Amino acid sequence: MKNIKGMKVYVEPSYEAMSRVAAQLVGAQVRLYPNSVLGLATGGTPVGMYKELVRMYKEEGLDFSQIITFNLDEYYPLSRESDQSYYYYMTENLFGHVNICKDHIHIPNGEAEDVDLECRNYEKQIQEAGGIDLQVLGIGNNGHIGFNEPDDAFAKTTHRVDLVEETIQANSRFFDSIDQVPKQALSMGIGSIIQAKKIVLLANGAHKAKIIAETIYGDVRPQVPSTILQFHPDVTFILDQEAAAELKKYEK
Ligand code: GLP
Repeated sequence: MKNIKGMKVYVEPSYEAMSRVAAQLVGAQVRLYPNSVLGLATGGTPVGMYKELVRMYKEEGLDFSQIITFNLDEYYPLSRESDQSYYYYMTENLFGHVNICKDHIHIPNGEAEDVDLECRNYEKQIQEAGGIDLQVLGIGNNGHIGFNEPDDAFAKTTHRVDLVEETIQANSRFFDSIDQVPKQALSMGIGSIIQAKKIVLLANGAHKAKIIAETIYGDVRPQVPSTILQFHPDVTFILDQEAAAELKKYEK
């Protein structure tokens, strides 16, 4: 583990090792503080971590019964029954396999009629739960966290987002065709994310190397939303070697 500008950075030899280390961190939180509030991410990156957490539940009795969760985001509009919804993803990858209480699970409603109300309520529910203890993040190639796209200002709270072309393009691999990718999403704001007590960001693959170096060493600015993490007091990056490859350029 390296310490770069106060941020902890783990560089692991493979995707599997990265996933195991991430699951160990999340698992330790669940074991030590069984009523933790977890902030959860979707996308391809954390699939291995969820698989390992399910194994820890099945083989080691990791207990999720008192855990409360808030997911970062959901496509809009999209039915939760759709195979591409983040609701479906979470059921498939984690919630359907562990002993979490259904009413402890929170994911923005991609079918909400009153979007502003949905966003306000989501934020309120996070506050009422006492805030997020541990937030898991992936990262978009453009530095988006949750679905907070590059912008002229950091979004504070849960809000509706217009997805940029690059994100629609990148996420089209999960849909039958690019036309089916929703053009909007509901996402926690940068403010909601940054208030989490601890943050763990996972990234793997060569295509993430540039944005990881930028996130850790670049100027903090809303045009690269992930750079805000430099200001957070407790951030851990868990990377595979490929995603960490460009950090060397900045190391003395
Ligand atoms: C998606 C999600 C993010 C995720 C990112 C990276 O758009 N909204 O939460 O971190 O893209 O996805 P992947 O892990 O598939 O590279």
